Amino acid sequence: MKTRTETIKSLKNKRPISCLTSYDSLTARIFDEAGIDLILVGDSASNTVLGKTSTLPATLEEMITFGSAVASSVQSSLVVIDMPFGSYELSPAQALENSIRVMKETGADAVKLEGGENRVEAIKLLIENGIPVMGHIGFTPQSVNQMGGFKVQGRGEQAERIQHQALLLQQAGVFSIVLEMVPRELAAQISQELSIPTIGIGAGNETDGQILVWQDFAGLSEKTLKFVKQYAQLRQTLTEATEQYIKEVQSRDFPSPSNSFD
Ligand code: KIV
Repeated sequence: MKTRTETIKSLKNKRPISCLTSYDSLTARIFDEAGIDLILVGDSASNTVLGKTSTLPATLEEMITFGSAVASSVQSSLVVIDMPFGSYELSPAQALENSIRVMKETGADAVKLEGGENRVEAIKLLIENGIPVMGHIGFTPQSVNQMGGFKVQGRGEQAERIQHQALLLQQAGVFSIVLEMVPRELAAQISQELSIPTIGIGAGNETDGQILVWQDFAGLSEKTLKFVKQYAQLRQTLTEATEQYIKEVQSRDFPSPSNSFD
């Protein structure tokens, strides 16, 4: 059965929500068939797929290409697409115009915008026009330069601001909020205060759900942050497979007769 934003909302206080990123058809299908609740086509594709050092270079066209591949391959999971840096900040009208393109050209179920009070008007306009929105506060990678690097957000006096942003986003109508790299006590408190689900990444285990970047979760990434757990060792598996392939090509053991046509 297709997961809707309403399904995700209804899971709060019932069971934790599982989310992963994906940017391509094959992994999207694997995660969907395994039963993941939500797939985010994150602008982390800028790092993990396109080899950039931040998410800032991601373009609308790239997100539409990745988003369309994922949305076309998924039967059940909710598909959310990140609006890339520069596609929604200028005005609510710009956010609406670009989100309409994303929804039309990908077939996704919702979009995600980073930011707090500065996004409220845009979020309201999108929702009024039928586009479900996921929020994203705490560490917001598109603001990495302004935040002075990859830093935990919401320690000390900052905590109140993040709590306030969460409430503002809920009032604006988002169906869920990503809390990235915030202290676990603060994330737990926000999760208790809100009636919509929080999805944590580096935010402890008391949020309403969890998300990881798939290459981190699968052990494909070279380096990972403290909050990542690797559920597989794909980097090692692929390295070993590649070394074996090279050996067999050089020894002419591959292709064998069974891999050849008569
Ligand atoms: O782009 C992304 O992958 C994200 C997740 C880290 C939440 O925004």
